[in-house]
Amino acid sequence: MAALDTFLNIEPIDCTYAGLQKDSLKGEVAVITGGASNVGLGYARAIAWAGAKVVVADLNAEAGAETERVINAENGPDTALFVKTNVTEESDIKNLARLAIEKFGKVDILINNAMNMRLNGTILDSPISDLDSSFAISGRGVMLAIKEFVPAMIKRGHGVVTYSATQFHYCPPMVGGSIYTAGKAAATSIMMSLANEVKNTGVFVFCLTPAGVARIDFSKMPPMPEGKEKPDFAMFGMPGFHGLIPPESGGAAMVYCILHAETLHGSGIIITDAFEAMNYPYPNPATVRKNESRRLSDMEMTMAFCTMGPGFGK
Ligand SMILES: NC(=O)c1ccc[n+]([C@@H]2O[C@H](COP(=O)([O-])OP(=O)(O)OC[C@H]3O[C@@H](n4cnc5c(N)ncnc54)[C@H](O)[C@@H]3O)[C@@H](O)[C@H]2O)c1
Repeated sequence: MAALDTFLNIEPIDCTYAGLQKDSLKGEVAVITGGASNVGLGYARAIAWAGAKVVVADLNAEAGAETERVINAENGPDTALFVKTNVTEESDIKNLARLAIEKFGKVDILINNAMNMRLNGTILDSPISDLDSSFAISGRGVMLAIKEFVPAMIKRGHGVVTYSATQFHYCPPMVGGSIYTAGKAAATSIMMSLANEVKNTGVFVFCLTPAGVARIDFSKMPPMPEGKEKPDFAMFGMPGFHGLIPPESGGAAMVYCILHAETLHGSGIIITDAFEAMNYPYPNPATVRKNESRRLSDMEMTMAFCTMGPGFGK
């Protein structure tokens, strides 16, 4: 498929390939924080494709406006609304809720996805302000949004709350993102506690771990060692991975998980497992490795990475 004429570097979206129905989320309204880039952008576009209205909440006003424009061009006017939002600011979250309700009347689905991916240093080398910022987005931001949107969901007995988690709940030395994982673990804890709090209310809560979602221009990759072929999609040395996942495929997995939120309540699922449940051979059947050993669960993956010792070559 040819790339769409947009600076977001995306391709037209069509989730029928993933076995999803065009109108499966018709009538729903979703808020996606961090929805103007990569994972969140894939979620927003797939959810809109599935018939829902989407409210994209992001700090990046330029990408947000472009996201709104693209989604409306793909699905018809008034499908998407962008609201410039800093998820750590209570007044911004209140403004987001006000504009979302004004435009679409309600919010059924809350996707906590925003994160500043540069907050990924080690404990020893990072300033305290990085830890504060990580917790502000992952902890405070997630809780502010929950407190703003979930009470109305409980009242209506209908809602889905999800979070873009990571499988790294603490950080092995060779990865080095201790500040990032600390914030992510806090948010995962909030989400799982919320699942208990809203039990039997009709609101379902789960985490989805993207794990390798990115749009990569492989033509810009450095040359491969002699005798090795350039891969289309590869995550080197990661057990259990098919490879990097295009954001549109991640979005398809999110639609699937929302549709099955009741069965996922109180748990986390790695995106590759969601694909397996969907029987979705991404990005196309020719690139799916046959006879691959089974994928690792969230806990196994964390254990595998965190017990490897002091890093490669040491
Ligand atoms: N990409 C992956 O494979 C992967 C793996 C595991 C977890 N995740 C999680 O998925 C989420 C999205 O990752 P991504 O790769 O798309 O990152 P990204 O950096 O491409 O997108 C993050 C978005 O969040 C926005 N943002 C940052 N701070 C914000 C704030 N305070 N308020 C509102 N918006 C803010 C940014 O502007 C950006 O649009 C993150 O929470 C990340 O931790 C991603």
